[in-house]
Amino acid sequence: MDINRPKLSFNCIGDASRVQLHRKQQLIAEITEMIHVASLIHDDILDDAKTRRGVGSLNFVVGNKLAVLAGDFLLFRALGALASLKNTEVVSLLVTAFDNLVTGETMQMAATVEQRCSMEYYMQKTYYKTASLVSNSCKAMALLSDQTPEVATLAFEYGKNLGLAYQFIDDILDFTGTSASLGKGSLSDIRQGIVTAPILFAMEEFPQLKAVIEQGFDNFANIDTALEYLWKSHGIQRTKELATKHANLAAAAIDSLPESSSLDVWKSRQALINLTQILTTRNK
Ligand code: FPP
Ligand code: MG
Ligand code: MG
Repeated sequence: MDINRPKLSFNCIGDASRVQLHRKQQLIAEITEMIHVASLIHDDILDDAKTRRGVGSLNFVVGNKLAVLAGDFLLFRALGALASLKNTEVVSLLVTAFDNLVTGETMQMAATVEQRCSMEYYMQKTYYKTASLVSNSCKAMALLSDQTPEVATLAFEYGKNLGLAYQFIDDILDFTGTSASLGKGSLSDIRQGIVTAPILFAMEEFPQLKAVIEQGFDNFANIDTALEYLWKSHGIQRTKELATKHANLAAAAIDSLPESSSLDVWKSRQALINLTQILTTRNK
């Protein structure tokens, strides 16, 4: 038994306010999920994906035109729900996330060879593309609950590091997973010429990889060459270490939250910390 585990739960706010707060927080979660799904629908169009989560992707099943509209529809539903919260700071945070999603996707699509081979550029793009939505949504949760700026910053740090860790593992699985295990195409990044952390780390050991990236991956032989270098390198292992580092930073943000004697709070924090473990050990 954990001796630090609190045994008492104190009711700090009234039941009515608690229900109202819970409803608002749930709405933020729903809005975040709508933005996320909309971004995936649009992403599958841009990536010409055939599958998503083990089934045909929307663009594949109904065509690009209807899929664009479905993504737009979800986005506007999300905006409507956001407006209903009547909290301009929360609106600002989620609008930043929208903005960053598009910026991240554009950075990925329009990068020069120098940018594609830069770890700094990859980290910035990864924050925009994946971690910004989680970090801003976590911060919005804290603000809606009238938490202090310090707690809001820790919530942001949790989301940012969790989002980064998630994407680094995703970038590994693109090389190590199968289409069946992932529920979406594997090797899709390199096929599209997208350079991710495993290749960037491999390039530090084998600088010859840069010339392969410059030539592009329209030529399938270059994909095989890049993969040969990757398997000879520590690229996958170093990306795993990077993901673990950020997962630990996310857990540390939770550990830094002000002490609480509530059992519910303790359980919630444990769940958030467990999530950092689940993300870094996932294989699909
Ligand atoms: C998945 O990346 C894509 C994203 C996380 C973001 C996509 C963002 C846009 C399409 C910009 C438009 C945004 C909105 C809100 C409509 P991936 O292709 O690397 O991952 P995958 O392997 O899961 O497809
Ligand atoms: Mg994609
Ligand atoms: Mg994409």
